[in-house]
Amino acid sequence: MNKIYVWDWFVRLTHWIVAILFLANYFVLPKGSEPHQIAGYIVIGAVVLRLLWGLVTHSPARLSEFKPSIPKALDHIRSVIATGEDDHVGHNPAGAIMIWAMWALILITAFTGWGTQLDAFIHAKWLRETHEIFANITMLAVAVHISAIVVMTRLTHRSYVKGMWFQRKQ
Ligand code: HEM
Repeated sequence: MNKIYVWDWFVRLTHWIVAILFLANYFVLPKGSEPHQIAGYIVIGAVVLRLLWGLVTHSPARLSEFKPSIPKALDHIRSVIATGEDDHVGHNPAGAIMIWAMWALILITAFTGWGTQLDAFIHAKWLRETHEIFANITMLAVAVHISAIVVMTRLTHRSYVKGMWFQRKQ
């Protein structure tokens, strides 16, 4: 069974706010500009709200529903390759690892960017460099995230994107 699980509106809204603003900051908005900074603050707000949502909701978006586990992720990948099936409702164990990693990387990137604007660190070149390094690592993780969705969609014929898109629940 490869049914689509459609995420609740809060998860979808925060996902696309974070995704669009991260990509805009990385590729489009001038580094260090006011719009770049505002986008960064909104990203922090959206991720923090999503994490709080994960503490109160009783849906598969609840944080305790997708604790990261490397052995479970490897078992899952082996099973998908062998069967072409992913019947998880919510994040599968491989996705779970990536999602925790992306949240951590996004927050480190955003907070180090914020730090560069504080009086105490205004001349701290090391902090600007750290911010850039983490932005690049986050971009790498996002590229893996999007590639994994493409590969999983091909292997299982399940449309993961539809589950994160704005549409009525099926
Ligand atoms: C632009 C193309 C993108 C597509 C098509 C996409 C699609 C998806 C999908 C389908 C999921 C759910 C996966 C599952 O069912 O387990 C997901 C989750 C997630 N994605 Fe993306 N994504 C994209 C870009 C991004 C970007 C740029 C970021 C970060 C900067 C990002 C961060 C996340 C996070 C943090 C989650 C977990 C969502 C949650 O549980 O709140 N995604 N994405």
